[in-house]
Amino acid sequence: MAKKTLSKKTPSKKSVNKKTAKQDAAAEMAVDALTEADATEELARLADEIAHHDALYYQKDDPEISDADYDRLRQRNEAIEARFPGLVREDSPTRRVGAAPSDGFSKVTHAVPMLSLGNVFDDEGVRDFVDRIRRFLGLDADIPLDFTTEPKIDGLSIGLRYEGGKLVQAATRGDGYVGENVTANVSTIGDIPKQVKARDFPDPFEVRGEIYMSHSAFAALNAEQEKAGGKIFANPRNAAAGSLRQLDPSVTASRPLQFFAYAWGEAASLPADTQWGVYEAFAKWGFPLNPLAKLTSSLDEMLNTYREIEEGRAGLDYDIDGIVYKLDRLDLQERLGFVSRSPRWAIAHKFPAEKATTVLRDIEIQVGRTGALTPVAKLEPVTVGGVVVQNATLHNEDEITRKDVRIGDTVILQRAGDVIPQILGPVLDKRPKSAKPFLFPTVCPACGSHAVREINPNTGKVDAVRRCTGGLICPAQRVERLKHFVSRNAFDIEGLGEKNIETFYDEGLIQSPLDIFTLAARDADGEQKLADWEGWGKTSAQKLFDAIAARRSVSLDRFIYALGIRHVGEITGRLLARNYGTAEHFVEAMGEAAKDRESTAYSELENIDGIGPTAAAAIADFFGEPHNVAVVEELLKDVSPTPLEAVDQGSPVSGKTVVFTGTLEHMTRAEAKAQAERLGAKVAGSVSKKTDYVVAGPGAGSKLKNAKDLGVDVLTEDEWLKLIG
Ligand code: IVH
Repeated sequence: MAKKTLSKKTPSKKSVNKKTAKQDAAAEMAVDALTEADATEELARLADEIAHHDALYYQKDDPEISDADYDRLRQRNEAIEARFPGLVREDSPTRRVGAAPSDGFSKVTHAVPMLSLGNVFDDEGVRDFVDRIRRFLGLDADIPLDFTTEPKIDGLSIGLRYEGGKLVQAATRGDGYVGENVTANVSTIGDIPKQVKARDFPDPFEVRGEIYMSHSAFAALNAEQEKAGGKIFANPRNAAAGSLRQLDPSVTASRPLQFFAYAWGEAASLPADTQWGVYEAFAKWGFPLNPLAKLTSSLDEMLNTYREIEEGRAGLDYDIDGIVYKLDRLDLQERLGFVSRSPRWAIAHKFPAEKATTVLRDIEIQVGRTGALTPVAKLEPVTVGGVVVQNATLHNEDEITRKDVRIGDTVILQRAGDVIPQILGPVLDKRPKSAKPFLFPTVCPACGSHAVREINPNTGKVDAVRRCTGGLICPAQRVERLKHFVSRNAFDIEGLGEKNIETFYDEGLIQSPLDIFTLAARDADGEQKLADWEGWGKTSAQKLFDAIAARRSVSLDRFIYALGIRHVGEITGRLLARNYGTAEHFVEAMGEAAKDRESTAYSELENIDGIGPTAAAAIADFFGEPHNVAVVEELLKDVSPTPLEAVDQGSPVSGKTVVFTGTLEHMTRAEAKAQAERLGAKVAGSVSKKTDYVVAGPGAGSKLKNAKDLGVDVLTEDEWLKLIG
């Protein structure tokens, strides 16, 4: 091994807007190729991964990736959010406030997770939200449904735990599951009762709401800070966050923070059976409620209230970024439950995005792990909605042509949902004479191979994305695939972060995933040892070998996800792991599916609930390549994937495959499916020998007949409900 410096990069100030290199470090799939489900999953992964790097950078001062790679992760996150504004997560890195997470606070695990809200951006979205609720609950349009309509406060959410009426703990949202204990600081906020004397105040009870800073307080604080030469805050939200996260509570006490209550966590009991009723109790107990909140009883009333509040927005002394609608009846909220991390019974209706104009300086092409060439606009820095933007995605070449944006153009930029930069189009009056249409490269900037637009086998349409054909010879793809393989949600090998993968790759030590597992043996046989490399020593080399050895056993879903098959993200990986049980079974079935698209194996794959035709085709394509099969088989000699545990192992239907057919009387199909999955069952769309139960309601047809022919257990809805308890 050559002597090689593995120096740590000095952390520099990180921002969303730094220069990017050619490859998209986290790119798994071109953003344009993502389905909504992929995007949901990818945004979750990116939020996790970026949070992980933030923690290393801020708390340990020990980043494991370069600033450029970090910025690429953030850019990908932003590009996906720009394409799917409705999927922006509450914990999105684009929303996270600049304040460094401090290790000065202890952690609090929320008894009830603090989840986020889905977003809609127009009336249509609200209508769909209400319709979805009716469909899920099986309620006709003429049955009235009340909703609370209230401002979405742009502050920080907080959980206030009371025991015996006394405020005993205040915790920030954190990642929704674990937050920070900021009790001492919150105790200084005048709006928040420290002791509730009411006899009917439940014990324990956790009141949740938003801490915010008013515009006037914000202006006064910044003026003071300026005088004292202190930090100037960009907006009231950052100021509130910065003030709450002070290690010295007397500093928090000097910063006027306020509070609105709008939700609750763990509760011994509830004072009412509606959201509005609980709000009334909050008010009675002394918690501040937003004065604009209203109980509305029709879609029209909800939308009118939205408009009224929006019109008055500029006159408010605090920031709001939209309206939240919540279904009033708590029993229905309970039935609706949650989908991923947001309730089905509430939604945020965001106010329209802010716009700005700036100059497009250049268009850079990034190459992702799957070879997708993504154009990134390099902009004259401009502030939109309180954030400086220098990069924006242009998605693909068609988008550039469609928008007719040219280098040198003044372009209109928008941050949709107040968070993501997106280019709307050029200002033609300002076009310089020299501006020529952008010629999208037809060769890969990373390896020089041809870059082509494939014809999608399913649709017969030309793919929007141009891809490098260099496959495994393209360094952008090879390295990115390796990084994906070791990434946090895949093999997650400690000490083998992106930077080390790059170095090991450049040094020829690790060229394919297989090389990872032979590293220690090769090191032992070789003359030059990793321990002799600069920046390494015996201990750190051994630690790395141990970490690799520890991953010889990894859960099957991670193993599948790590393979980097197009359209197979974590969720699909989990579905496959759950359905096939063992790696051997999975590989065998995929081999059969790849050989013949008419095979039972292929139709079984496609029939897995949650796996669409695109993912099924991509998986079969992957296993149709002998080279890929060889790598997987070789890997399986070194790695033993472990089967997944079912969601609720104790449930009588855990691991069983269920098909619902006919009309259900106690719940809708969607509700039944969600419930079965929560209990660890797989819900399939058609009956096969593998089906354990068919739950048949009135009007069941061919599925019921199939079940009888195949001798599958058929249950009535009541029998099913009894079975699941
Ligand atoms: S309800 C289960 N109501 O928005 C959802 N949230 O995206 C409970 N927020 O983290 C949240 N005003 O920080 C709710 N009136 C309101 C809100 C509100 C602001 C914030 C809150 C939450 C985020 C959800």
